[in-house]
Amino acid sequence: MPDRYAKSRELFAQAQTCIAAGVNSGIRKMEQPVPLYFSHGKGAKLTDVDGNSYLDFQIGQGAILYGHAPAGMADAIAKQAALGTHWAAQCELEIEVAQRLQKLIPSAELVRFNNSATEVVLSALRLARAHTGRPLILKFEGAYHGWADEGLVGFAPPPQAWGDPEEPSRIHPSAGVIPEVLDQFVVARWNDPAHLRRIVQKHRGQIAAVIFEPIICNTCCLQPVPGMIETLLEVCREEGMLLIADETITGLRMGGGGAQEFLGFQADLTILGKAIGGGVPFAALAGKREAMQTIIDGRVVHAGTLNGNPLCLAAAKWCLDQVLELGPRHPGGLVNLGQQLMQGLRASAQRHGVPMHPQGPGPAFHCVMLKPGAAEGPVLDYRDYVQRHDAARWAHLRLCLLEQGVRAIERGLWFVSLAHTQADIDEALRRADAAMAQHASQWATATAAKS
Ligand SMILES: Cc1ncc(COP(=O)(O)O)c(C=O)c1O
Repeated sequence: MPDRYAKSRELFAQAQTCIAAGVNSGIRKMEQPVPLYFSHGKGAKLTDVDGNSYLDFQIGQGAILYGHAPAGMADAIAKQAALGTHWAAQCELEIEVAQRLQKLIPSAELVRFNNSATEVVLSALRLARAHTGRPLILKFEGAYHGWADEGLVGFAPPPQAWGDPEEPSRIHPSAGVIPEVLDQFVVARWNDPAHLRRIVQKHRGQIAAVIFEPIICNTCCLQPVPGMIETLLEVCREEGMLLIADETITGLRMGGGGAQEFLGFQADLTILGKAIGGGVPFAALAGKREAMQTIIDGRVVHAGTLNGNPLCLAAAKWCLDQVLELGPRHPGGLVNLGQQLMQGLRASAQRHGVPMHPQGPGPAFHCVMLKPGAAEGPVLDYRDYVQRHDAARWAHLRLCLLEQGVRAIERGLWFVSLAHTQADIDEALRRADAAMAQHASQWATATAAKS
């Protein structure tokens, strides 16, 4: 049988001779059967260098909220490129983009721009420490806040390193990290409001801020249980800690006002990335004026040569206009398509006896593949996820999906974009059903051979 990924394999082999490990972001190396090389995309469809076409639910790790290569965005970028890409100075566009964010996000009284959400996370944590004069940051196990030393504490720890559930270990997945960084964090378990109160009390007066993904999309799309957001708001208010909402994924995706609008709360500081630039390197820190005060008075340094460059601003302005134009129709359309996809996948899995359960709000969701004998019901936190999710079995199903032309994220996450149509969802479900049949039969054969 011809190798449907032959050209990608050839390019990946070449890449390993000139790019460290062959990829430019570590996570891309995980892609099976080989990191794919793409030639072009349009709307919800993406084509690889072997000519395979995919209905794309990876969509640039969530950044491509408006689909691939939207004509209006290409025009906006081209127009600006002809005028200049970068002045390291002011331009009217930055005010226009800032004002659009103010319109969309009630807690965005002031903003500052960067080029990646990783940078914005660092700015937010620095601001919080300066604002409160306290050293510690509380974050949740399994949440991802970018790849810097500070963003990765407590992300995806292996079970043997979990430690006391009352005070989870401050594990870092990378070598070469400044060791003292770990001492600046308190890691808590998600979705246990009583535990959150206890751990905050234990470090009383020392915690500057709580940073959190309002829906932990980086681990299983863990939505907050009733009382979780309320408890977060209460403990922050009672203890004088800042609340930092990392809306890198949920921002614009869960509505113009992001997860804050969707779940009904306001943060002191908000991290925006991905969809705010629609695939160009653009990110923003948004926040209450009071929380931004140390930037205003110059005590906190926030800088960057390429911050607020006109090329990315032109793209961001176009992106924000799409969301503003949709108004109250967003995120309803996206939720509807996402939930149809989740229900269809669930039904298909049931038909083929595959223990797969999608969970999440719809615009983003995660396919949980239950291990043999694992309990059913929603996964609530990181440890629960690791204990119940059968990563190897999901990886096999994902390969079958890929073969049928449906592209989901390696670890089980799916994103729906504003470019996906009803016809795309229907087609994706037809293809997914074929993938499910292929997976069920191959998995049964492999399991029988092992026993
Ligand atoms: C919640 C969250 N925060 C921060 C980041 C870092 O964003 P970037 O890769 O743009 O630096 C990510 C990236 O996936 C993210 O999901």
